[in-house]
Amino acid sequence: MLVTGAGGQLGHALAEVFPEADARTRDELDVTRPLDVEPPPDVVLHAAAWTDVDGAEADPEGAAAVNVAGTRNVVGLGAPVLYFSSDYVFDGSKGEPYLESDVPMPVSVYGRTKLDGEREVESGWIVRSSWLFGATGHNFVRTMLRLGAERDEVAVVDDQRGSPTFVGHLAVAAKDVLELAFGTYHVAADGDCTWAEFAEAIFEEAGLRCGVRRITTAELGRPAPRPACSVLRSELPQTPRLPHWREGLRACLDRLS
Ligand SMILES: NC(=O)c1ccc[n+]([C@@H]2O[C@H](COP(=O)([O-])OP(=O)(O)OC[C@H]3O[C@@H](n4cnc5c(N)ncnc54)[C@H](OP(=O)(O)O)[C@@H]3O)[C@@H](O)[C@H]2O)c1
Repeated sequence: MLVTGAGGQLGHALAEVFPEADARTRDELDVTRPLDVEPPPDVVLHAAAWTDVDGAEADPEGAAAVNVAGTRNVVGLGAPVLYFSSDYVFDGSKGEPYLESDVPMPVSVYGRTKLDGEREVESGWIVRSSWLFGATGHNFVRTMLRLGAERDEVAVVDDQRGSPTFVGHLAVAAKDVLELAFGTYHVAADGDCTWAEFAEAIFEEAGLRCGVRRITTAELGRPAPRPACSVLRSELPQTPRLPHWREGLRACLDRLS
């Protein structure tokens, strides 16, 4: 088993859950280069990606080189691929959770490259998840813990809704996905919240006395548009179900302490 992007937050969790895997960081396996992996893998857990959503707007070719051409290279290894995709393949206007049968309609460059990457996977599993966080890497939980310790109040967006998913839970679910037929599966934490609600939960669980000032996406003014509601649910009974996001948050905080 080969894990790509092992230096990232999900790749790190996958390497823990699959200790027998050949887990490679970007330095050890750059997916944009011609790939020659020995021994050839039987299956690839493809967690490497360009994940800088705002940066992709400024460099669409760079994002596509990793998320689309890079995925093509990984598929070219000849083994089935578990490709991790994103809630950002949807435009967020449905107003209720997105199911596997919903038609993707990305609004950002990042979302488009993740969708184009899905289309490169001929034999494999597409696992769409959302709002990932873990004890390593850059993520919202770690940022809020830092800001919450420094400030009395932080301004956080309250008009985007999703399901914050702990990478440890997603990595365990990947084991179950490998037992399923090839196809697309929505695997995200149970429950949903806005970023502001998530920040309040982080401060509460971590015992930080920091207030949350609720702002709009427009006020924040980030370069990439984001879906207003990108909650994912599965309509397929065989899809693994994840714990509630608050349980994921507690598991992550336990790891951090
Ligand atoms: N983060 C989220 O909220 C979220 C939500 C839904 C789905 N996903 C998907 O889940 C997967 C894992 O995301 P994550 O949150 O773990 O992201 P991450 O922490 O940013 O990890 C991605 C990893 O890919 C590496 N990478 C970038 N370019 C590469 C290349 N050319 N070759 C090999 N590795 C490369 C990065 O290395 P460097 O750090 O050195 O660049 C990084 O270690 C991605 O497919 C992402 O699209 C993420």
